[in-house]
Amino acid sequence: MTETLPAPARRKPSTPTSFAYKQIMAVTGFIFVAFVVVHMIGNLKVYAGPESFNAYAAWLREVGYPLVPKKGVLWALRVTLLVALVCHVWAAVALWLRGRRARGPHRRRRLKGVMAQGARGMLPGGVAIFVFIVVHLLDLTIGAVVQSGAFAHPDPQIHAYENLAASFHRPWMAAFYFVCMLVIAYHVQHGWRTILQDVGATGRRFRTVWVALGGLIAIAIVLGNATIPVLVLAGVIA
Ligand code: HEM
Repeated sequence: MTETLPAPARRKPSTPTSFAYKQIMAVTGFIFVAFVVVHMIGNLKVYAGPESFNAYAAWLREVGYPLVPKKGVLWALRVTLLVALVCHVWAAVALWLRGRRARGPHRRRRLKGVMAQGARGMLPGGVAIFVFIVVHLLDLTIGAVVQSGAFAHPDPQIHAYENLAASFHRPWMAAFYFVCMLVIAYHVQHGWRTILQDVGATGRRFRTVWVALGGLIAIAIVLGNATIPVLVLAGVIA
């Protein structure tokens, strides 16, 4: 007796292909990694003291002026990041749902290897990073809700250093940032590797260099960023 196989899951003609979703994830993921690295380099100014850090925060608001209006470049960056975030999350959720639908009741079990292990943490890691971004913006950019009693200076645009120090003097917030930086480093390291698969890069030497670079970026995020809340809490950064 011949067994009838279920018809393969069909994509609605109007929705992008999985390949297109993967390309979206790769491009937007790359934009995020670039931003996190540049932002981390900027954060290092905290080691040069309040004047240097606050001058950098002020510069961010004036960069490009008078060619573009004040905050013009900053807003262009914000819009780019927001669009990238929406597209990244949209593609991730769409791929996840499509994968679930295609597998049906047959769950993947006991997948081994670095990539399989890493892939498992990507969705929960992504959700944690999303929560981090919301808390971080409320805490240090908007200066509302989360800062509550610890908000040292009501104008976050002028007193970026003081607000940062006040925020990280709260042990729970310092711990939250520290753990989030580990999650981000893990997500970046694995996501960076995945970009290779998504764009179909095959050269062995190129792959080795690319993967090593991802590892270095992850280490830099931990060393450059995660140390800041720890050192504030330890009193090294006052
Ligand atoms: C310990 C690590 C970090 C520290 C100390 C830190 C510090 C800061 C500070 C002080 C600001 C406000 C700057 C200002 O208003 O002038 C800021 C803004 C911001 N940070 Fe971070 N940050 C960290 C990690 C991250 C990470 C990992 C991301 C991304 C996943 C991120 C995304 C942002 C964004 C999107 C803004 C808003 C920029 C704007 O629109 O003005 N930060 N950060």
